[in-house]
Order: sequence, then C-alpha cells, then structure tokens
Amino acid sequence: MLHGKEGEAKQKAMEILVALGRIYGASRMIRISSAQIAGVSYKTIGDAGLEYLRHMAALGGRVEIPSFLNPAGMDTEQWEAMGVPEDFAKKQIEVLDAYATMGIRTTCTCTPYLIGIRPKEGEHIAWSESSAVSFANSVLGARTNREGGPSALCAALCGVTPMYGLHLKENRVANLLVHVDANLENKTDYSIVGLLVGKKVKKGIPAFKGIKPNETQMKYMGAAMAASGSVALYFVEGVTSEWNVSPDAEKITITQKEMDELKAKINDADSADLITTGCPHASISELEEIAEMLEKKPVKKPFWICLSRNIKDEAVKSGLAARIEKNGGTLVADTCMVVAPLERMGFKSPAIDSGKATVYLPTMCRQKVLFGRLEEILWK
Ligand code: F3S
Repeated sequence: MLHGKEGEAKQKAMEILVALGRIYGASRMIRISSAQIAGVSYKTIGDAGLEYLRHMAALGGRVEIPSFLNPAGMDTEQWEAMGVPEDFAKKQIEVLDAYATMGIRTTCTCTPYLIGIRPKEGEHIAWSESSAVSFANSVLGARTNREGGPSALCAALCGVTPMYGLHLKENRVANLLVHVDANLENKTDYSIVGLLVGKKVKKGIPAFKGIKPNETQMKYMGAAMAASGSVALYFVEGVTSEWNVSPDAEKITITQKEMDELKAKINDADSADLITTGCPHASISELEEIAEMLEKKPVKKPFWICLSRNIKDEAVKSGLAARIEKNGGTLVADTCMVVAPLERMGFKSPAIDSGKATVYLPTMCRQKVLFGRLEEILWK
C-alpha cells in the first residue's frame, strides 16, 4: 500500500498511518475490525474537509473494513422542517456522498454500540468520536486510541492502525483512583462526576471504586470525561472487565458539594429556547423513560431527542416515537445539538442533561446553557 500498489488513495492513507506510527513509536501495524469516523458535520470540517474527502473518493479510496460515521450536521430527512439553512444542507449532503462513495456506512451516530456494532473484548479497532472511544475501551474492553477523523479514515481505507497507546495492554493502567462520596441517582449525576474527573486526570486513566453505573450512566460519564479531559479509558471496580491500577496511583474523592458547585457554575441561562437530550445518542430504554415523562406532562418548547436513524426506525415501528411526538418531543436522527448549526437556526440558550454538551455548546455553538437532569429542564 505504501508503495502505491493498491492505488493512490491507499498510498496517501498509509503514509499518514506510518507517520503517526513513527511519532508514537509503534513497532508495527495491527489489523483492525472496524473504524468509526468523526469529522462528518459540514460545520466542523468546512469546505477544506469536503474537498479532502472528495479528493480521496476520486482517487479511488474504498474502505477495507466495516466503517461508519459520526453524527452529521443535520437530520437528513427533516432538515428543512427543522430550519437548517439550505446552503448548509447542500454541503452536508455532499460530505455524506463522498463518504458513501468510499464505502462508509452513513450511520451518523456516536453510539454505534447501540445499533449492534459492539466489538468484543481485546478486539482492535480505530474509532474517533471521543465518547464512543471511551465506551468501546472501557465498557466493551475493545482496544482503540482516540483517533482523529482523518486518521480513522486512513485506518478504514487500509484496514490497519499503528500499534501503540491503548492497543498495548501495558498502557492500560489507571493512574488515578477515584472514590465518589455522593448520591448518584441518574445519568446526569454521573456526567457531573465525569466532568470533575476529566478535568483532574486530563489524558490519564481513572479507576472508580464504590459506584455501580449501568450502561447509560457509563455512556454519560465517559462522554463527560472525554470532553473536560481527554480520557479514552477508565475502569469501574466490579463493573468493567478490566481493572488495572498502578500502585502509585493518586487517590481523590469526589464530593456532593463539588458536584453541586459545578452544576451551579455551568448554568448560565434562566430559561431555555430549546430542550435537548441524547448526548451521546439515546437508546430505546432512554426513549421509554422520556415517553413516560411526557405522558405525565407534555413539553411546550421544542424538544430534540438526538439519536441514530436505526434507533429512530425501531421506535417508529414499536409506537414509541408516536407516544413521544404526540406530547411535544421530536426524534432528531443523524445529528446532535452540538454539531448541528444551532447558532444559525436562531437558538441561543438550549437546556441539556449531559455534561459533555455543556463543554461544547458555549464554544462550538455560541450558546448559553441550562443544565440539569431531564426532569429539571423539560418544562423550563
Ligand atoms: Fe454524540 Fe454529539 Fe454528544 S456527537 S457525544 S451527541 S456532542
């Protein structure tokens, strides 16, 4: 591939992988079973990104392994009704077309593990969306570095990735031991813990004692740690299959007081013009919970539940979508509140129940944020 025997696109991709391997001291390449590629929203990649993708597709780039996409900048079926500007939509469709030409599945989700893409323990993959990376490494026990969009695309085209970092067992060791002295009742509480720990551990690996999160709660906690820090792997004693803590690990305690203070600090809006959830993308069980809440009291403001197209289709089939939409919710597929062009759609202060989104909504979307558990924000 490096010598161009399999075409120019693969040659260019392999040059990048070899350069990365040299930088990080990889001894060799390793075959991977899947790639998840970020850099899909036109808002984040712009014209330069679109040009690059078109170029690679025109050079004949075709993926070697099952490969799928992160959220795009809009719901591909209801963008018009949602008020996405037409010029943006046109470019977004071109981005998706370029990826599709290369054989990449346009799943457009940050939770591929909710639609049956669940690599097994020890399986090597190249995923790039930070919360998906965290879930794959920590909850599923797969092995991936936190790839950038371009490096994940190169890995998809070549079917390999340089063997370094979290692909090596000896690097999967926690350097921070976390005890949580607080009452964690739901996913938002876990995401506040994630924000605090991510800030503290930065690029390191935390290990938690004394908590028993379920998959949804880990999804939220991992996403927050990957946003306030760059955590790509964590352990939870008795929950994750891996538990490997350095004898020199620093010990910290997260208290209820710290959590309450952070929550108050993040809140900088009194009311919301849009209610959002599904960061990371929502599961069927989260939709069931939402349907029940809305049946008790419908929402009046626009309420986006961000999710994958597959989960939406499943919810439509089972009648769950109708129960939510009848009471004011909108199932928004393929995109999310962060990578959609909220700032161009007239929104200024969304409410959100996810710690991760509170990091990016102010910076990437110029929004003020109302933050709390779903029951605290739904009717604000
Ligand atoms: Fe997913 Fe968007 Fe949140 S990509 S993790 S829903 S910021």
